[in-house]
Amino acid sequence: MWEKKPVLLIVLATGVILIGTIITMVLPFAWVNTEADRIEGVKPYSALQQEGRDIYIREGCNNCHTQTVRPLVSDVLRYGDYSKSGEFVYDRPFLWGSKRTGPDLARLGGKYPDAWHYQHMESPRAMVPKSNMPDYGWLSANQLDPQVIQHKMETLGFPFTAEEINALKGKTEMDAMVAYMQKLGSDIPWRQNAKTEIVGDLTNPYAGVGHATMEPWEELYQQNCAACHGEHMEGVIGPELIGGDYDDEVLFEIIYTGIADGGMPSFSNLGTDKVWKLVNFVKYYHLGEGH
Ligand code: HEC
Ligand code: HEC
Repeated sequence: MWEKKPVLLIVLATGVILIGTIITMVLPFAWVNTEADRIEGVKPYSALQQEGRDIYIREGCNNCHTQTVRPLVSDVLRYGDYSKSGEFVYDRPFLWGSKRTGPDLARLGGKYPDAWHYQHMESPRAMVPKSNMPDYGWLSANQLDPQVIQHKMETLGFPFTAEEINALKGKTEMDAMVAYMQKLGSDIPWRQNAKTEIVGDLTNPYAGVGHATMEPWEELYQQNCAACHGEHMEGVIGPELIGGDYDDEVLFEIIYTGIADGGMPSFSNLGTDKVWKLVNFVKYYHLGEGH
């Protein structure tokens, strides 16, 4: 019946569209960038990090990587605490993106040690055998030009201090990129707050198994641990693992929850069974037959 009264229909339709527009478009303007939205710990980028960010955009890293953890269970489990709007106040332009050929990077800071990043950028396949990310080793050959960076920031109206600009001398584009990677998502202390809960009992289900049983588990080690602890557990980026005398439960905890801010990632995503296999492999395999 309304469709027969055009004026009333137009008024009602306009009203409905207006309400929708106000809720989805106008109100967020009022919510975003208010005091309430600010997060104390979020700091502006340093000159080095900012330069890394510019190179990230120049190289189109954002064509393969997003920078926002959505408030979905699957996203939070995989990447960490979901992104808060206040974390992006210094991002111009923002790099949320929507294409994930590679993983999201919004919570990357502190996940790996610097050395891991240098090697991964140099040759992603050295760290992640099946990676299809291109090599960026040549970034190490490009020196930063502090004058250009100063000029750029003056043009934008956000000059860095002479001290900050001076600190760029002798740094390469690779240094800038790694500094930027380590800053991503690390301004809020989510890692410390997100202690992975271990549920269930901590008895080693594979206690006493033989060398032959453990042999297939080497693959788990090579895929997940070798890049940092070495092919033979001799230690590279992370410490040597041979001869550590942790209790089985402690070892389980280290691998399952990782060492926050120590550069040892959590492997809870492998599930408890695989983590127990790794515990046994790391602790007993090198002892050989009949330990
Ligand atoms: C062609 C797509 C592609 C491009 C371009 C690309 N990456 Fe990646 N990236 C990947 C894939 C796939 C992975 C997952 C495998 C791996 O770790 O190498 C990855 C992983 C990463 C990781 C590890 C993330 C984690 O949590 O383990 C970092 C850091 C990274 N990329 C940074 C960069 C940077 C910086 C650039 C630009 C200089 C870049 N990527 C360009 C595809 C890409
Ligand atoms: C991204 C690099 C990286 C990867 C991958 C990695 N670790 Fe680590 N790991 C480290 C670092 C760095 C430390 C030292 C952390 C600290 O002590 O603060 C460490 C510490 C450890 C420790 C404690 C050693 C000690 O002597 O205190 C154990 C055990 C360990 N890792 C096992 C593993 C296992 C098993 C895997 C594979 C599932 C693995 N790690 C994967 C970087 C890594």
